[in-house]
Amino acid sequence: MNPVIEVINKRRSVRSYEPKPIPRDIINTIIEAGNQAPSQGRMVKGEILFQPWRFVVVEDPEFKQKLVQTTLPIWKKFIESMKETFPEVYEKAMTLYEAMDEPKDMVYYSAPVILFVIGPASYAVSCALACENIMLAALSLGLGSCYVGFGMMVKGNADVVQTLELTDDERIYGPIVLGYPKDIPEARALDQHKSYVEPKIKWI
Ligand SMILES: Cc1cc2nc3c(=O)[nH]c(=O)nc-3n(C[C@H](O)[C@H](O)[C@H](O)COP(=O)(O)O)c2cc1C
Repeated sequence: MNPVIEVINKRRSVRSYEPKPIPRDIINTIIEAGNQAPSQGRMVKGEILFQPWRFVVVEDPEFKQKLVQTTLPIWKKFIESMKETFPEVYEKAMTLYEAMDEPKDMVYYSAPVILFVIGPASYAVSCALACENIMLAALSLGLGSCYVGFGMMVKGNADVVQTLELTDDERIYGPIVLGYPKDIPEARALDQHKSYVEPKIKWI
């Protein structure tokens, strides 16, 4: 099969990682793939600029711990709120939580790298395209990834905001966690997997 199509079809969110560091050259290759994504032009001081994003690579265990302490209470509150309304989502999260090794990190899954894609709030489409390139490049290099929406909820921690150098008009896309997968979720293998939904297509 065409290798790009194969990677696209194989990509799944990975929520369990080996405690093994990712070599810096691999991280740089992945970031470069993100940087190659298409982007909308924006006028800055009379100039049209592209590539509105910047990247922050988090490897430091202490800073990761700060991120977990900031976002885990938000995750817990959210999951608790699902108990009555979406019991199956709650059960699924709890099963994952119980199966997880200590320390239980339900937001970043103890991944060796947390990659923040940061860009202007009004350039969401461009930044999301960079994120997808990153996740596909990661898989092509033998890594797993997961887009962790909960990880953007760090604005309540001034210390984290300062370290990420987040400005008022910026938002976080991802972050994306990266690492060598412990469990590789089954590919959707097109029409065989229960979670595969046929594309809705109208031909004109
Ligand atoms: C905007 C966005 C936010 C997401 N946030 C989370 C998250 O906080 N935690 C998580 O485990 N997965 C998160 N995901 C991953 C989705 O749950 C996942 O992509 C979806 O269930 C489909 O599964 P697949 O990625 O394996 O194809 C997020 C995905 C997107 C696009």
